[in-house]
Amino acid sequence: MSIQLDIAALGARAAAMIEELGAISQTPDHLTRFFLTPEHRRAADLVSVWMRDAGLDVTEDALGTVRGHWHPTGPDAPRLLIGSHIDTVANAGKYDGCMGVVLAILALKAVRSAGLTRPYGIDVLAFGDEEGTRFPTTLSASQAVAGIFSPAYLALTDDDGISYRDAVIAYGKNPDDIPNAAYDPNKVIAYIEAHIEQGPVLEAEGEPLGVISAIAGASRLSITVTGEAGHAGTVPMRMRHDALLGAAEMALAVERIAKADAHGMVATVGRMHIEPGSVNVIPSRVVFTVDLRSGSDISRREALTRFEREAHKIADLRHLGVVISAFHEVATVPAYRDIQLRLRNAVADLGHRAIIMPSGAGHDGQAMASLCPIGMLFVRSKGGISHNPAEYTSPGDMGLAVAALVRFIERFQLPQLAGSTSGAET
Ligand code: GLV
Ligand code: MN
Ligand code: MN
Repeated sequence: MSIQLDIAALGARAAAMIEELGAISQTPDHLTRFFLTPEHRRAADLVSVWMRDAGLDVTEDALGTVRGHWHPTGPDAPRLLIGSHIDTVANAGKYDGCMGVVLAILALKAVRSAGLTRPYGIDVLAFGDEEGTRFPTTLSASQAVAGIFSPAYLALTDDDGISYRDAVIAYGKNPDDIPNAAYDPNKVIAYIEAHIEQGPVLEAEGEPLGVISAIAGASRLSITVTGEAGHAGTVPMRMRHDALLGAAEMALAVERIAKADAHGMVATVGRMHIEPGSVNVIPSRVVFTVDLRSGSDISRREALTRFEREAHKIADLRHLGVVISAFHEVATVPAYRDIQLRLRNAVADLGHRAIIMPSGAGHDGQAMASLCPIGMLFVRSKGGISHNPAEYTSPGDMGLAVAALVRFIERFQLPQLAGSTSGAET
């Protein structure tokens, strides 16, 4: 007999929790909540209160990942991990990350209240650095949990010159404790995450829930172009070494490369810093970023090589200097076949058809895949809008997603997973 669930009430509760979490922001008029800030602290505290209310024991690791533990058969039993993130981009929507944490807590609360016991424990995880918006790191909190945190991160600085190490200390944690955040791989069964789709596919299919097949690989580059500052009124056009015009041509080159790709590659120049940045001075130095993603790691690597070649050609023709450095690189991560199947069955139990789809967005599962098999449940986005305050998922869809997680847990009898990854190209 399945646990009885009031899907409408679960959805309404999820919506109320998301509003409460979404009100915790560094900026008064919109939602911005970066890693290891006082607002991250307040959000983590609120999540801890909800976890305790759901009957979970709460701990926190050295990077602020909040962990709600349910161990019906004792703390030494293997663990199923269910999580998402509570950091945001600047001027964010309220659902990206936060929704997955809220849905996991509500699912655990329903499972506990029904008196279900399992031969394994479940930990709900709320990570703090999925977006990579404060430091030039991405997924560092989940990397620590997966045991692949790079100590080199500690020396990196944010836009205010604060080092990662100092931010950890200011958050009240000890950087020396970061290695203790790692789970023992022998004790972990799998990592599951529910997340807003952030795209239009589920809406177009008329279905509330999807199951991902893989998370697209990504590369992030920082490109520094150097030219020569000069007077905007006196230096003839043919004698200029304008760093911005070189950078602009490079941005158009990466757009061209992505558009020519047959695997749906996407490329974004999201940041550009111009020096000296005066209306009447020819730009002497530009630093910009490229974010390049593809479901094919082979195509992505080829595109990187092509971009490097083109950027140097552009710089040479304009007599500019160019330095390209990669600061994030993650391969395409396939979702575990067995988990995909179990999630599909859970959705089918609710009378829906789960759409199987890849994720173009990055997720903590990319780091967690180093620790254990992963799988993700996608929840329909209104208009496919994300990284935008207009981001929205209906309470009804969220209620169904909680129910799907509950059905998944109910069906998950043994800490044994059959089969392998989806065999996606790497
Ligand atoms: C995270 O949202 C990312 O995909 O950049
Ligand atoms: Mn996210
Ligand atoms: Mn995001």
